[in-house]
Amino acid sequence: MLDVQHTGQPSVTRREDYLVPDWMVPETSLDFALDPAATTVEATLSVERNGEHDRPLRLDGDGLTPELVRVDGEDWSNWCMDGPTLVIELPGASHTVETRVTICPERNTQLMGLYSSGGILCTQCEAEGFRRITFFPDRPDVLSRYKVRMTADKARYPILLANGDPVASGDAGDGRHWAEWGDPFPKPSYLFALVAGDLAANRATFTTQSGRDVQLAIWVREKDLPRTDHALHALKTAMAWDEATYGREYDLDVFNIVAVDDFNFGAMENKGLNIFNSRYILADPDTATDYDYDGIAGVVAHEYFHNWSGNRITCRDWFQLSLKEGFTVFRDQSFSADQGSHAVKRIEDVRALRAAQFPEDAGPLAHPVRPDAYQEISNFYTATIYNKGAELIRMMATMLGPQRFRAATDLYFDRFDGTAATCEDFVTCMEEAGGIDLIQFRRWYSQAGTPRVTATLTHEAGGGRAVLSLRQTVPPTPGQPVKEPMVLPLRIKLFGSDTGAELGDEHLVLLSGESEEIIFEGISERPVLSINRGFSAPVIVETNRTPADLAFLSARDDDPFARYEAMQQLMLDTLVASVTHGRAEHDNVVEAVRNTLGDETLDSAFIAEAVLLPSESFIGDQMPLVDPEAIHRAREALRRDLGRSLEREWRAAYEQAKANRFEYSPAAKGARRLKTVALGYITASGAPDAASLAFVQFEQADNMTDRQGALTTLAGGTSDERVAALDIFYNRYSDNSLVLDKWFSTQALSARDDTPEQVEQLARHPDFKLSNPNRARSLIGAFSVNQRAFHDASGRGYRFVADQLIALDKINPQTAAKLLPPLGRWKRVDAKRAEMMRAELERILAVPGLSKDMFEQASKSLE
Ligand code: PHE
Ligand code: ZN
Repeated sequence: MLDVQHTGQPSVTRREDYLVPDWMVPETSLDFALDPAATTVEATLSVERNGEHDRPLRLDGDGLTPELVRVDGEDWSNWCMDGPTLVIELPGASHTVETRVTICPERNTQLMGLYSSGGILCTQCEAEGFRRITFFPDRPDVLSRYKVRMTADKARYPILLANGDPVASGDAGDGRHWAEWGDPFPKPSYLFALVAGDLAANRATFTTQSGRDVQLAIWVREKDLPRTDHALHALKTAMAWDEATYGREYDLDVFNIVAVDDFNFGAMENKGLNIFNSRYILADPDTATDYDYDGIAGVVAHEYFHNWSGNRITCRDWFQLSLKEGFTVFRDQSFSADQGSHAVKRIEDVRALRAAQFPEDAGPLAHPVRPDAYQEISNFYTATIYNKGAELIRMMATMLGPQRFRAATDLYFDRFDGTAATCEDFVTCMEEAGGIDLIQFRRWYSQAGTPRVTATLTHEAGGGRAVLSLRQTVPPTPGQPVKEPMVLPLRIKLFGSDTGAELGDEHLVLLSGESEEIIFEGISERPVLSINRGFSAPVIVETNRTPADLAFLSARDDDPFARYEAMQQLMLDTLVASVTHGRAEHDNVVEAVRNTLGDETLDSAFIAEAVLLPSESFIGDQMPLVDPEAIHRAREALRRDLGRSLEREWRAAYEQAKANRFEYSPAAKGARRLKTVALGYITASGAPDAASLAFVQFEQADNMTDRQGALTTLAGGTSDERVAALDIFYNRYSDNSLVLDKWFSTQALSARDDTPEQVEQLARHPDFKLSNPNRARSLIGAFSVNQRAFHDASGRGYRFVADQLIALDKINPQTAAKLLPPLGRWKRVDAKRAEMMRAELERILAVPGLSKDMFEQASKSLE
């Protein structure tokens, strides 16, 4: 499978090599005779020579054999195969080219192209899956108008869907039927989609701001219909939000969403026919957590927002992927923030960035938001492209302010509608409509690595002056040894440590040099620094603030994110000291948590976030070398102390939140969150009734958030209740694969000493199957972020992950390659562990027939 060129090296695609397409394809007509074992695809392309040249038409293919090639209605012999690519010599400036191929959806385990999931035929084409369906110039800057005809067995596939609007349908005889769909909007091939299956719809009508009616439908198997209301509601809310916030209206008469169980990512924004991983559609209180509900609303909105940021304006080439993904993540984050608490949403987004993107940026797979080269594009659907890309948009929005940012997005949508654009095009619109210069800011697109800011505040009491010294460094990353300074928008404010008063307004400081000094006049009392408020720049900040300063800010800062951050920093400093010196004073943290718990001005959701200790991995990220055992011990010790010292407070918080009946509202969600956080601390205190308290919560829960919260608490311990709860949970939900995923992941994430063994056993469980990406991720993905278990000193965790990935690569290379990065972080651990991790990477690389996806990830990880 590894595609090796004549040099023996896998081929590399470079951004600087971009050339405009040789041929355009204004019209595409596809005819599918659908069958799971053998589907024939007849394609009719109108092609037009682009510019003055005599090069042939090159049509990408992947595993396809042409059964017929015709040009302008005549059989054509002037073609050949160049590897997987069909090369056709054409005499004139425009022609009609017809091809026919046969493909086998039921044997497509990669889940790219046309495949079968639970009896539903569906497609996934981004990034380069369309070439597994038919021969085509499979690149995002070739926009074509599509007509699609499908014929299929009527009983097995009563519903036939494709992009755009339905045109006609009818009976085809022999128990078969047909349907035709037409998409009036020119689109790149990666947005093509079709679905055939026995599906039922949850329908609604949305009236757009200009008064057009759009027929909405969410298609699932009949039995899943009762779990689609939340997604449908989220869709309507997102459609209205995009009109109100960005002035963007939907453009077709229908909008269809289909949920399937086997899907490589979260969902896909195909024009007018989004296809979703069922985990981002299906929810009811008994089976989905609040976190799942939020995820569904966020992903439904994300895919819908792509209709403008992605589909109406697409990407010129895959190096521009963040043009659509960074912007669309920013849009979905803003949408979700508007549905509940802005503060809590920001905390969650920053936590996700730090958990996934910061380690990526600090490791062997670091790459810029606009990469320069790739071997396999599927490997670049990363936290850097998505989440850091969103932070770049957020920084520009911060610098422009809301009015000018809206003017800039209006300009962007207006100027580039119907085209394939670049990140540069987007930034130019920000500059023009924002009236600012973003020359230096563009380095955020080209330089990888998380900038580090050192902020030192000094006070000259006599002169009434405070001086803030800022320094930035951008660390070296693979291929980029030397970095230039970036533009860092830092929201800053000072507070008086005696009076607690604000010493002046908030400033937006644009740090652009390597170092800078900012002078504050008229500062008579000792100031405390609140910096990077709202996480205005995606950087690491080091300050000279004392534990008392941090405790002060955690109780007094008026920016909720800064308040949370001060508490996190206090906890981190304490934990790092304790890992380094074997012990540390816990009093500051205990008092700060006590204050937060008792602050009646705060809502439960915020309190729950603020009192949660940083994860073991995040603590590890602060250390020069990760000692997983020492980190675990230090964190458990602090948890125990917090549990014991504040036992009364935790129990009070628990009792108060318990009164809550299920409702999906921000307040009810906050109460549930705080309840389970409190249960965790009560358990950590070692209280003898903790397991039975958790078991009662588990049994009496009227919703999955409480039930899974209790299960997670029990799963980390050694009580009899743990075994009982895991069994009850399994039996109760054995026919619901999304809930069984939770059963697997809860055990893989457990803090128990025997987690590595448990996980090996779970991989032999009859319900474990690598072919379903959600299930594979629920065990392998969850286990490899369980820092202590994954880094078990025996090396069995590494071996387990490598074994699984080698097996998975033969089934689904894309999903396998996505799970590899934790094995590549060997530079972060001691020499013995590093040696074992490298040995597993070598073992993976030695597998005959390894995919290009895995080859790229594993070989880069060894460097
Ligand atoms: N474009 C999809 C999204 O972010 C993600 C995706 C990529 C899905 C590749 C499938 C394959 O919305
Ligand atoms: Zn997206």
